[in-house]
Amino acid sequence: MKTHDNRQVITVADPAALAKAAAERVLARIEVNSGRLAICLTGGSSPKQLYQLLATDAYRSKIPWDRVHWFIGDERFVPAGDPLNNMGVAREIFLDQCAPAANIHPIPTATADPADPDRGAALYEQELRSFYGADALDQARPLFDLVLMGVGPDGHTASLFPGDPALDETARWVVGVPKANVEPFVPRVTLTLPTLASCREMLFEIAGADKRAILTRVLAGENLPANRARSIGETIWLVDKAALPEDFRGQ
Ligand code: 6PG
Repeated sequence: MKTHDNRQVITVADPAALAKAAAERVLARIEVNSGRLAICLTGGSSPKQLYQLLATDAYRSKIPWDRVHWFIGDERFVPAGDPLNNMGVAREIFLDQCAPAANIHPIPTATADPADPDRGAALYEQELRSFYGADALDQARPLFDLVLMGVGPDGHTASLFPGDPALDETARWVVGVPKANVEPFVPRVTLTLPTLASCREMLFEIAGADKRAILTRVLAGENLPANRARSIGETIWLVDKAALPEDFRGQ
């Protein structure tokens, strides 16, 4: 394990080991909180193996489903059943079979107006505020126990794209993103950096040689959205060998 400023980079062998390490971290977060928990999931392909693992008996039997609430860091304006719907994917792989429906908190992009993504964002912000029980985030009481993240080829994370004014948002918890920088080119809703930061642990999952180029830039400290996403608690990047830049091998 190596520490780069306040981020820990943990290297694992391959995507299967990465999913297992992430699943163990989910359990560890659950173990240290005996009350109600909030986990913020992410979209993309990276977390799918983790989601599959959580549905297996080994993990499913250890998760107190009635006290864990599941949120999503960003959503695309696509129908609920569309394979590009981030929460839809998580629901299909594990949530619908494991979690009580009342504990699943999707961003309402399936019913909200894609021409007004800020409206969908405001609805989700309201839901988050009421779950949290206050209108301002308190550093001493993080909103989430765990926030899962991924990084895109342009350095975006959640739906926070390079150069987007959403990156500098400090008042709103959730914002609309009229234009995505990568496919699918549909409007999005995303949690803002301070909202994502309000967690005990932020966990990035990075796997595959395709990620090596962007990871090189991230680890070089380039000003990219994924680099600006930091938890007020722990920030951990789980990286598999194929994604690790040459310079970091053997460290
Ligand atoms: C989204 C995601 C996004 C994702 C990265 C990585 O809705 O697009 O939340 O931020 O995490 O693009 O995606 P992959 O896991 O598919 O590489």
